[in-house]
Amino acid sequence: METRPLIFDCDPGQDDAISLMMALSPPRDGQAALDIRAITVTAGNTTLNKCQRNARMIAQICAQNGGSKNIPIFAGCASPLHYPLATAEEVHGIEGLDGIEIFEPDVPLQDEHAVDAIIRLCRELDEVVLVPTGPLTNIATALTRAPDIASKISELVLMGGARREAGNITPSAEFNIYVDPHAAEIVFNANIPKTVFSLDVTHIALIQDSHVNRIEALQTPLSGILTKMLRSGYAEYDRAKFGTSGTPIHDACTAAYLFRPELFDFRKVSVQVETQSPISRGHTSVDFWGMTDRQKDTHWAIDVDQAEFFDLMIKCISAYAKT
Ligand code: RIB
Ligand code: CA
Repeated sequence: METRPLIFDCDPGQDDAISLMMALSPPRDGQAALDIRAITVTAGNTTLNKCQRNARMIAQICAQNGGSKNIPIFAGCASPLHYPLATAEEVHGIEGLDGIEIFEPDVPLQDEHAVDAIIRLCRELDEVVLVPTGPLTNIATALTRAPDIASKISELVLMGGARREAGNITPSAEFNIYVDPHAAEIVFNANIPKTVFSLDVTHIALIQDSHVNRIEALQTPLSGILTKMLRSGYAEYDRAKFGTSGTPIHDACTAAYLFRPELFDFRKVSVQVETQSPISRGHTSVDFWGMTDRQKDTHWAIDVDQAEFFDLMIKCISAYAKT
């Protein structure tokens, strides 16, 4: 289990929300809580303003139900480095969190910009693991503005990209990379060890009705909220699009890895990002067979133990308060 300090960078979005619910879950079975120092927010699934509100909502729900408390939340970049913002309300709903009753959270938004917070925390801490699950604009901006922090980032654990699964926003690009390919290019070129959960693995770990029924059967306030979200339009979108019986919970792979890395199989690769082509912008070109002499600095997840993955998710959710 991960014990290093963590910064989650996200664009909530239902799957970001589930990843946060897992990451913020109370200690259980002798397993400590994760050491989350900050939640930073970027635009992506919806606008920055709605994503930051959604992050604060999820943090409040988790804290009120026995999860980690008082984790500072920072808003970051409202648009990609060069392209106009593309959002995904058709997937996540107009508020970015289909299935959850929207409220104005008491959890405050910090005044400090997310990029400044990332730079400050990287400089203050001996080391830090960054866990981005949205477009990589905040991360890339921090690395560009303060190159010295790269040596303090011991691992980047990110959801994004695709090799075998091609794309989910265009025929050849995954959403997070597509939205800001210039940021992704900076991140993938950075001299930082990366662990990547692309569509190649997130399209394996598909949540089924049987898993949702198990979550519902927990009969806790948080499991009830999660059940409604998992039975919303979000769950139907991917099933209809890809013709699958289940729904990918993309970002939850990052949280699961932090608790149980052994659930995943990886391949060491190098990755390049297409930034210009109107057809293949955001494509991740993964050197899977050693066709180049580029440094293989990326662990690319290629498989996951589905049963154990969802047992872990349900175990995290079951750790929240019963009343
Ligand atoms: O392509 C899936 C990714 O894009 C997920 O992180 C989802 O939340 C959206 O950000
Ligand atoms: Ca996301």
